Order: sequence, then C-alpha cells, then structure tokens
Amino acid sequence: MQTKEQITLNKFSLQFILFALVALIIGNLFGILAGFQYIIPDFLKDLLPFTKIRPFHDSTVISWIILAATGSIYYAISNLEGLTIYSTKLTKLHFYLFLIIGVIIYISIGSGYMGGREYVAFIPILIVPILLGWALFGVNYFKTVLKQVKNWPVYYWMWGTGIVFMIFHLAEAHFWFSPYFRENFVRDLTVQWKSYGSFVGSWNQLVYGLSIYIMAKIKNDDNVGRGKLAFFFYFLGLSNLMFGWAHHTYIIPMQAWIRYAAYGISMTEWIILGYMIYDWRKSLSIEKKESNSLAYKFLIATDFWVFINLLLALLISIPIINFFSHGTHITVAHSMGTTIGINTMILFASLFYIASRIDNTIDIKQTKLIKAFYLFNGSLAVFFGALIAAGLKRSEWMYFSKNVPFGEMKISLANNYFVFLSSGIVMFIGILLLSIPLFKTFLKSYIKTVMST
Ligand code: HEM
Repeated sequence: MQTKEQITLNKFSLQFILFALVALIIGNLFGILAGFQYIIPDFLKDLLPFTKIRPFHDSTVISWIILAATGSIYYAISNLEGLTIYSTKLTKLHFYLFLIIGVIIYISIGSGYMGGREYVAFIPILIVPILLGWALFGVNYFKTVLKQVKNWPVYYWMWGTGIVFMIFHLAEAHFWFSPYFRENFVRDLTVQWKSYGSFVGSWNQLVYGLSIYIMAKIKNDDNVGRGKLAFFFYFLGLSNLMFGWAHHTYIIPMQAWIRYAAYGISMTEWIILGYMIYDWRKSLSIEKKESNSLAYKFLIATDFWVFINLLLALLISIPIINFFSHGTHITVAHSMGTTIGINTMILFASLFYIASRIDNTIDIKQTKLIKAFYLFNGSLAVFFGALIAAGLKRSEWMYFSKNVPFGEMKISLANNYFVFLSSGIVMFIGILLLSIPLFKTFLKSYIKTVMST
C-alpha cells in the first residue's frame, strides 16, 4: 500500500517522463529541420534560420536527457524502492519551475532574444531559476535518501554526485558574468569549455547510475551496485567529471600531461562501463533476459555504441588527427554518437524497465517494438557513418585542396547530407515507434494515479 506522498510523487515522476518523451520527439523534429537546411540552405530560412533551429534542437534534446533521467530517478526511489519522499511540495515546485523555464527558453530562442553562450544560448538570467530547480531536487533527494538508506549502492552516490556537480558546473558556465573571467580571453574560454565538459559528466552520472540500477534490478542482485568494480567506475567517472574536459580546450595552451591524463581518464571510464555491461550480460540467465527483453536489448545496444564511440574518441584524441577533425562533422558525430548511442539507449532501457513494471505486456507482447529497436539502431549506424564521411570530406577541403570554393565543397557534400538526413528521418520513425507505446503506458498510469488521489 503506497502512502499519499508516494502516490503524489509518482504523479510528478510520470509528468517528468511524459514531458521527456515530448521533448525527445520535438527535439528530433528540430534536428530534421536542421538537416533539411544542410541540403537546402534557404529552407524555412526567414522563419527559422539555422542559428535558431540549432539551439532549439540542442536545448530540446538535452531536456530529453535531463527530464527522462530526473523522472526515472524520482520513480525509482519512490515507486520501485518504496522510499517516502522528503517533500512532495519541493518535487512539485521543481517540476513547475522546469516547465516554466522550458517555455521561457523557447520564447527566448524563438524571439532571438538570447545573449547566452553556445549550448546555453537562452537569456543568461534564466540560470538563476535553473539552479534553484536543481537545488530543490538536491535537497529533496538527499533528505529522502540519507534518512532511509544505509550503505548506499553505487547508483545512489552517482545520482547525488550528478545533482551536486550539475549545480556547480551550470553556475561555472556563467562565470563570465564576472569581469574577472570575461575580460581575460584565455581564462574565459578555458572556464566556458571546461564547464561544458563537466556539465556533460554530471548528467552522465545520473544516466550511468540508472544503467547500473537497471542492471541490478533485472539481475535481481544487489551486488551489481555494490561491487568493487562499480565503485571503481564511480570514482573514475567522478575524476572524469572533474578533470576529463581537456579535449574541449584543445586550442588553449596548456601542459601536455594535463591533456594526456584527461584522455586516459575519459577513455577508461567508457572501457569500464562497457566491461560492466558485458560482464552483467554474461552472468544473466536466459529467463531474465527474456522477461526484460527491451530494457536488456537497450543495454546491450549501449555496450555496442560505447565501443564505437570509444574508437572514434580514441582516434580524434590523437593530436594530429584532432587538428584535422576539429570543426568538422566528425565532432558532431562524436556528440550525437554519444548522446544518442549511449545516453538515449540507457534512458530507453530505463523507461522500458519502468514501463514493464507498470504494464508487463509492453515488453514481451510487442514484436513491433523489437523491430523499432533495430530500425533505430540500424539507422543510427548509417547516420553516424554519414557524419564521419562528411567530416572527412570537409577536412580534406580545409587542409588539402587548393582553390576549391566553399560553395563547390558544399555541393560535393550533397550526397553525404542526403544520406545523413534520410537516415535521420528513419531514425526518428524508429524513435516514434518506441516512444508512442511508452507514452501511452505512462499516460494511462498517470491518469490512474491522478484518479486515485
Ligand atoms: C535523440 C536524438 C538526438 C540527439 C540526442 C541529438 C543530439 C545533438 C547534439 C548534442 C548536437 C550538438 C552537436 C555539436 O554541437 O557538436 C546536435 C546537433 C545536430 N543534430 Fe542532433 N540529435 C538527435 C537527433 C537528430 C536527428 C534525427 C537529426 C536529423 C537529421 C539531427 C540533426 C542535427 C543537426 C543538423 C545538428 C547541427 C550540427 C551542426 O552544428 O552542424 N539530430 N544533435
């Protein structure tokens, strides 16, 4: 029997998840519009130029990651773990604050009244309520978990760390408010890009924590989240979050050893995550694999994409290769490869796991979902390959071809852009086929929860 607080919290966790799925769909639509502008630069140019579509796309897909992780964590601690939340009022405030901020971000980008830096391009003052929202999440999380859980498994540490560091690094991305940073170019650039690396590291703590949580739940074995390897992974992730940003600051003069140490940490983190999933998969019974088939499949897909992204990251971290790949679509392949291939895969695993606890027919019954899973992954492979091919061509133009005008190079990229856009559209269809049944399941559960209060 759930307490009134648990029921209210379920309602808000489901709201976070429902909005996450909406953000995923809208974010992909913006991506597709941006892809059209690669091929037809004048497409919708007056209404929505690339300078607006790109921040719309970036902020919406980042919202997908943050909202889905937040909703999953709230749901896990209240519904699956049965903890009583410290304050449902804080959760309510957190949700409505983020909702209002989301609307203002859209108005800010749509009206062109921005003023922020890349990736956080919206009106800079919005950072104040954003930080407040994270602080509310933090207070609620720690007050809930510290009281009721002893001997924390690793995922509790990861979620807590993700929240605390998110607050610091989001603030850090706005240190340029102070003239001390703004008026010194090197200092300003270093802090800005360092904060982005660590900001991504912070949401990775939330998302990777979920991956370990789901693995432990599927295997029904608490040791998955308590073993030495899991904690080693946590400390590696933590060092990566704090020091692994060096590849974002390539153009800034710094000691070579700092860079090498940072690369070492960031690559090892992925190797350990890849190994943990591999090891977990080996030790899982066929029955458990089958009864959680979709969550399981998404975690295995994560393992594959960890491997592919690791290969690319290792290559573009070699200074001479980085010199040629920097500023080309290879960098975009790296960021989309990781946010889709790793973050989105884990979040789908988490949502399918939660959905299957609400309605177990969503998992086994639906062969359509398995097909959508393969469609999503197959098209992502083509999408990723097309970006790398476009990046190689552009790099060749930048450094090796003489007297070839920019327009001519763009025309020669038309085929790559076509493959990129078409596979992006197919990928979106795959995502839709996966998201709609999830949305329906969560909506039904939401309506039931609302009716019961
Ligand atoms: C879950 C799905 C998606 C996620 C998480 C995602 C994530 C991202 C991220 C993080 C960036 C910033 C890249 C950077 O600055 O290096 C980006 C840029 C972009 N994305 Fe996506 N994306 C998704 C789906 C799509 C789709 C379906 C398309 C359609 C073709 C697309 C097209 C683009 C384009 C054109 C850019 C701009 C690249 C540039 O600056 O030239 N994305 N995306």
